[in-house]
Amino acid sequence: MSTAAPEPKANMGRPEPRLDARLKVTGEARYPSDMPAGNLAHAVLVTSGIARGRLTDLDTAAARAVPGVVEIFTAENTKALKHLDYVPGGGGPSTSVQELGPEIAHDGQIIAMVVAETLEAAREAAHAVTPAYARENPSATFESNGVTEEPAGKEFPKAGDAEAAFAAADVTIEAAYGTSTQHHNAIELFTTTCLWDGDRLTIHEPSQFVYGLKNAVAKRLDMDPAKVRVVSPFVGGAFGAKAQMTPRTALVAFAAKTLGRPVKLVATRDQGFTIATYRAETRHRIRLGARRDGKIVAYTHEGREVTSRPDAYKVAGVADTVRLYDFGTVATKVSVVHADRNTPGFMRSPPVVPYVYALESAMDELAHKLGMDPVELRRINDVTKDTVSGKPWSSRALMKCYDEAAAAFGWSKRSPAPGSMRDGDWLIGWGCATACYPTHLGATAARVRLLPSGEVRVQVAAHDIGTGAYTVIGQQAAERLGVPLAAVRVELGDSDLPPGPVAGGSNTTASVCSAVIMACDAIREKLVRAASTANDGPLAGRAPGELSFTDGRAVASDGAAESVTDVMKRLGTAALEEYAEYLPPGVPRDGLRQVYGGKAVLTGGPHGDKIMYALGAEFVEVRIHARTREVRVPRAVGAFAGGRIMNPRTAHSQLMGGMIWGIGSALHEATEIDPREARYINDNIAEYLIPVNADVPSIEVIMVPEEDAEVNPAGVKGLGELANVGTAAAIANAVHHATGKRIRDLPIRIEDLL
Ligand code: MOS
Repeated sequence: MSTAAPEPKANMGRPEPRLDARLKVTGEARYPSDMPAGNLAHAVLVTSGIARGRLTDLDTAAARAVPGVVEIFTAENTKALKHLDYVPGGGGPSTSVQELGPEIAHDGQIIAMVVAETLEAAREAAHAVTPAYARENPSATFESNGVTEEPAGKEFPKAGDAEAAFAAADVTIEAAYGTSTQHHNAIELFTTTCLWDGDRLTIHEPSQFVYGLKNAVAKRLDMDPAKVRVVSPFVGGAFGAKAQMTPRTALVAFAAKTLGRPVKLVATRDQGFTIATYRAETRHRIRLGARRDGKIVAYTHEGREVTSRPDAYKVAGVADTVRLYDFGTVATKVSVVHADRNTPGFMRSPPVVPYVYALESAMDELAHKLGMDPVELRRINDVTKDTVSGKPWSSRALMKCYDEAAAAFGWSKRSPAPGSMRDGDWLIGWGCATACYPTHLGATAARVRLLPSGEVRVQVAAHDIGTGAYTVIGQQAAERLGVPLAAVRVELGDSDLPPGPVAGGSNTTASVCSAVIMACDAIREKLVRAASTANDGPLAGRAPGELSFTDGRAVASDGAAESVTDVMKRLGTAALEEYAEYLPPGVPRDGLRQVYGGKAVLTGGPHGDKIMYALGAEFVEVRIHARTREVRVPRAVGAFAGGRIMNPRTAHSQLMGGMIWGIGSALHEATEIDPREARYINDNIAEYLIPVNADVPSIEVIMVPEEDAEVNPAGVKGLGELANVGTAAAIANAVHHATGKRIRDLPIRIEDLL
């Protein structure tokens, strides 16, 4: 695989290396658990060994006798912590299960936290805590006794009479699909370090929403949020798991307060499976009806999702799938199934990963039944006006993506009959599918400061969760103020900075760059006015619209120029600083106040006047060994259109990483659940399978130029959650092409193909 940075095409910025690259590869980047603290005490969690029932006893005598133990926190001595209502979405609590007992609502629920002088003592004592339970039979998942099911909302997307259209269709398919449980498994574990200074609390915790965490923790501790600061400059992977407040944070803060010293917790890998959120398993029933010429006339989709006993978390991706094509008529329905599990939550492209997998598999089944090329089926049903709402798209380059990816892949050489392509002992299958992700926008502020030296500082409490946010935000400011990127310093991930959006829904680049543009333009305006209204100087009397900024100078169209330093001398100011607030259309006027208060305020996708999505087309080759049925993906090609690409290098990484995750979804990832005990079995990264380099020999990413002036001032659609959508369907479709076997439940394993 080539490691050279991709060359920018039209409407793409420069492929700058990451501003934080050196810090990260040298280990100098300080992640939250690296923050030093004097007199630090170490915490270790004790978690439940049953999934449902009651703690009848929690014997801590032996644990307290371990030398170095400072305190053991249990349900008894943490009653001062307030219970918060569960609110799905970024910022609030990740679950209603916040108490340490006596009721046990899921496996791995926190039932105690040992704090000791050393990690070793805390760990030894945690193992010595002895719980006794009154166990009840838990319900593990869909098929278990004792689950309850309810609609996941009042209304779901609907258009026309899909039943009648389906009944009258020339060609129909009906099929059921399933996706597996997935856990985030970021390299960085779930950590929290809390320090008190009088009545002020500082929390070092990897977070996708520092304002959300700050406010939610303040509520649990019943204190003024203004006295809480969350610091999270680097996040070692998050994928959605760090967007909400998990129960551990307030517990560590409370322990640090009670003990009068800093406390640090690094939860273990297996605890991460139960003390945070995850992607729950889903089931789908889909029907598609079409005319003989391929025009779809009916699409029905019933989704079912597992959630916890108390909380109705749902992803309900039908809100997105119904936008993908011109379906004629649509009927959808989603329900949640309550089981004795921890509450699921955001995981990279939460609604679209399972729902688009199901739809894109069904599209392939329909194409096969029609005897039609699957790309052609998408072309015939390409949409200009949304089936459900009638709204137009802001821009849509789906078929351009298909054309570019198909050409690069060599799709025209495909022999359509299943099982008709073979290379010795290897059965070859080629498949394709659509990727999509709604363009989300969040209310955000940004502060930009320009010094006479041309140095720029950008501040916003947004987050770089490994995506390159520091770099692209810096590029936006550099571009707008005409300074080199090296002159820009970007500060993120600190709730003392101006409020920024949750790092969720792939909105950060679009939202924050839009706010940065506003702040930079305000600075430019001041500079332009000072230069053009001066009594003397090279730009005196020029029309403001004539001036642009480049190389640290204000430049007129005929080349006359004045340095920013000189213009600022005229202004008599030591620095120009502007604070801007970007409120996307559809966001309430008090959007920023809501973000200050810890609420994630997002809009976009299908919700505005225009339908706004980033799109892509993915093609894969699978090779299945004729005897062993081992499945390989020797190559994958994806072409993606996401509006303006701020940085082709970081965008390429996002898209490539997404496709690799998609391979994991198709072939590797599944959290296995013991159906009797409702406990996760493979809660470690030895047995929770993910693709490694040997599994991804060739991933080709094509960025398709796209301009969309309507999505937001930055013209950015967001790429973080695009490319892991569609890959799994493309692979399942390729497996069908190789073998004639349609595997509808993910992941696809050797045993499915015997
Ligand atoms: Mo991402 S799953 O929207 O945090």
